[in-house]
Formats: sequence, structure tokens, C-alpha cells
Amino acid sequence: EQVRVYAPATVANVACGFDIFGFAVDRPGDEVVLTKKDTPGIIISEITGDEGRLPLEVHKNTAGIAIQKYLEHIGRTDQGFTMALHKDMPLGSGLGSSAASAVAGVFAANELMGKPLSQKELLPFAMEGERVACGSAHADNVGPSLLGGFVIIRSYNPLDIIEIKVPEDLFATIVHPQVEVNTKDARSILEREIPLSKTIEQMGNVAGLTAGLLLSDYELISRSLEDVIIEPIRSILIPQFKEVKSAAMAAGALGCSISGSGPSLFALSRGLETAEKVAVAMTGAFKDAEIESEAYVSGI
Ligand code: HSE
Repeated sequence: EQVRVYAPATVANVACGFDIFGFAVDRPGDEVVLTKKDTPGIIISEITGDEGRLPLEVHKNTAGIAIQKYLEHIGRTDQGFTMALHKDMPLGSGLGSSAASAVAGVFAANELMGKPLSQKELLPFAMEGERVACGSAHADNVGPSLLGGFVIIRSYNPLDIIEIKVPEDLFATIVHPQVEVNTKDARSILEREIPLSKTIEQMGNVAGLTAGLLLSDYELISRSLEDVIIEPIRSILIPQFKEVKSAAMAAGALGCSISGSGPSLFALSRGLETAEKVAVAMTGAFKDAEIESEAYVSGI
């Protein structure tokens, strides 16, 4: 018995919503091919698309860990699997690469076990994969990769995930420059204490973005796509950040910020045509500094 599962890349944080906002895109993504075997234990038979960089040991692999934790939870560690993982997105890119693998893995296992858990109930196991990948079990990549669309993590303890509808005409542009940022490092440089004044500004934007999405108010979405806490610190890790962001805004984007922990940038636009123009402008701005980049345009 075998299943093939695809899980998409995601944009976490969405400017103002550090660790609480995320959305899924159509592509790129990861694919897991999971096969039941007669003996217990998980074997990772092959990983492609990672240039040999990801561990084949189950307890170090985000998908392997997620499946292992899932089997323990449902009390079925007697069931073994062979897994092949096909990565179709860059590692360390800020596109939720580790999350997509974990989601594809745990979703595949649940299918083969006859779906004892609902899709939402799979989230904690995929989050364990994130813990292995970057030291924190954040859900703003695994949440949207698992559920699709735009999600809000209202609370981590207890886990409270809200899926919200976004305007149909909202498109995302993601540009991935050929530089790598490690999520663990990008988290460790953040300030632990935030002044009240900045917190108020950020909360205003979080509320504004949520309302803007639900009301299809593009002006409000645009005004709210600001991050006064994380972006000023992390953008230092991304060469050409200011120039690329300015190019996106000049090309008509509603807003532009760091995708997850970077180095990818994302922009939101009204309409596919604008989102494509924004992609050209952003890759062009990277090119001005001789940095190659790849762009993806997608609905949300
Ligand atoms: N919210 C996480 C962070 C996402 O910004 O560190 C990492 O992809």
C-alpha cells in the first residue's frame, strides 16, 4: 500500500504576524511517497532535490520525526513505513521547506492508517518536525501547508488555529535570492523585550490585516502590511532588502516584507498581472546587485 502526497510552500509571519500568520502558495512544494512495510520502523529510502544535505536518520528528518510522533500518539509503532522525499524547493529559503516535508509525511501516514485523525489534528506532529529543524515548534508554516489558504495561530497553548478567507483577487509574489539564512540564527538575533509603543503599532497592523482580508479592503491590507518589530532586525541578513522592497512597491504591490525568516521576500498584490510585474521588478532589483533570484507567483 502506497500514497503520494504533495505539501505546498508557505509564507510565514506575513509582515506583522510573527509566528501567528501564514499562508500557502500553489507551488513550489515537497512530495512524500510513503509505503507500508511489514516490519516496524521508518526507513527513509531516498531524498531528492536536497543536494545530499538532509539527514536520512529518522529522528533528524522533519518528515521522519513527524511520522514517528504520529505513530506513537495513535499507539501504532508496530506499523513501519518506507519513505521517499522529493524536495522541490530550496532549503533555508524562508518558504517553509522543513514544514512542507513534515506535513506531507504525517498526512501520508494518516492516509495509510485509515485516517484515524482529522487534518487539523495532525498539526502537533508536523510541529514536532519544525522543532527538530529549527529548535522551535512554530506553526505558521505547518498550519497553512497542512490546511491551505491563510491561517491565524490565535494561541499555541492550547493550539487554536483559525482559517480565514482572503479576497479572490489577492496574489502573492515570492522571490528567493541565492543566499541562505538559517531559521535558528534568524530567531536568535531577535530582541526578547519589545517596547509597549512598538507592540501597540504591531497589534494595530495585525488587527488591520485580519480585518482587511475579511472585508476585502485592499487599502487596509496595504496599510497593515508593516512589521515594526522583526523586519528591521532580520532585513540586515538580506542583501538588497531595501532596494527590492522599494521595487516591489513601485511596481504596485500592496506590501512587501520577509517571507518567514528569509532570505526570500514576499509581496501581496491585487490581481495576477500586478503580481507578475512585481516579480519582474523584485528579481530585477536583486540582479542590479548581481544576485540571482527565482520568483514564484501564486494565488492564496
Ligand atoms: N515564524 C517563523 C520565524 C517562521 O519567523 O522564525 C520561520 O519560517
